[in-house]
Amino acid sequence: MTTTMRAVEIRSPGGPDVLALTERPVPTPGFGQVLIRIAHAGVNRPDALQRAGAYNPPPGASDLPGLEASGHVAAIGDGVTGLAEGDAVCALLPGGGYADYAVTPAAHCLKVPRGMGLREAACLPETFFTVWSNVFMRGGLRGGETFLVHGGTSGIGTTAIQLARHFGARVFTTAGSDEKCRACEALGADRAINYRTEDFVDVMAAEGRADLILDMVGGDYIPRNIKALADDGRLVQIAFLQGPKVTLNLAPLMVRRLTMTGSTLRPQSDVAKARIAHALAREVWPLLEAGRIAPVMDQAFDLGQAAQAHARMESSAHIGKISLTVADS
Ligand SMILES: NC(=O)c1ccc[n+]([C@@H]2O[C@H](COP(=O)([O-])OP(=O)(O)OC[C@H]3O[C@@H](n4cnc5c(N)ncnc54)[C@H](OP(=O)(O)O)[C@@H]3O)[C@@H](O)[C@H]2O)c1
Repeated sequence: MTTTMRAVEIRSPGGPDVLALTERPVPTPGFGQVLIRIAHAGVNRPDALQRAGAYNPPPGASDLPGLEASGHVAAIGDGVTGLAEGDAVCALLPGGGYADYAVTPAAHCLKVPRGMGLREAACLPETFFTVWSNVFMRGGLRGGETFLVHGGTSGIGTTAIQLARHFGARVFTTAGSDEKCRACEALGADRAINYRTEDFVDVMAAEGRADLILDMVGGDYIPRNIKALADDGRLVQIAFLQGPKVTLNLAPLMVRRLTMTGSTLRPQSDVAKARIAHALAREVWPLLEAGRIAPVMDQAFDLGQAAQAHARMESSAHIGKISLTVADS
């Protein structure tokens, strides 16, 4: 097997142009890990944050961007059971997905859902791990509840709308254009709110406030989310696109018994991520195989066009997932 590979590195923190193709040694799988020969890699907003210098890899993780990929197992480390060389997988990665090869714990690999292509499968792990762990495990969304997710056409939003709908919630979402709102409603949202022309707090007051809000916007959305929550409601924060610092009146937390929480996936322990993978295999992969939910695919770029892929993501013109094609398959 070859000892060097193509990889996209971040030359220095900055805009999309700091992403450059380079050559790196092929990594070696350690105990409990597998080496994946990558076919496709998913592009996520956290990759752009890392590129800009605002989201550093946790200790021990690859400095290369890329948190998810699909491909075939190329080598197996000691202690791995249940996977063999040649198996087709999609996997959550600690980093390093923008490359020909990457290593990850075997327990963070999931099979490619029957009937799904490798490109679509590459775009599952980061958003499905994030949505499952925050909306269902942490946020405890139940059938019959009202759910609001901001950024409905993001990778996260398109996943959250479909899963919440499937598990019986009434689904509301926000997006930045009428076209994006219609796309969210086609995916199963009961009502998409164009945040440029409508106030989501007013809409939720009229339609019935939210039991659970999944928010990535932060900033002035934080006090407005509190207003949009029903009594006993939960606010789960997964990012702060408009900043994490606000002045807040916390009295409603007490009076209306609200819960504010949040999490970020990447620095969690291998065991915590394996637990999420296990739950997804049991609860969600059968839905993907049955075609009841599916990733929403935006544009594909070649590995060497990672800068263009990031520019598209940061333009917010996309609907759903952007991917990188690493090898034809
Ligand atoms: N905590 C975690 O573990 C974790 C993991 C993965 C991702 N994330 C975060 O989740 C977010 C989505 O990630 P992604 O990869 O799916 O990125 P993405 O597709 O680029 O999504 C970002 C979305 O934010 C929306 N947006 C921006 N300002 C908004 C506003 N004021 N109101 C409503 N929507 C707004 C944009 O849509 P419009 O054009 O409609 O504004 C866009 O759809 C990112 O912030 C990312 O950092 C967190």
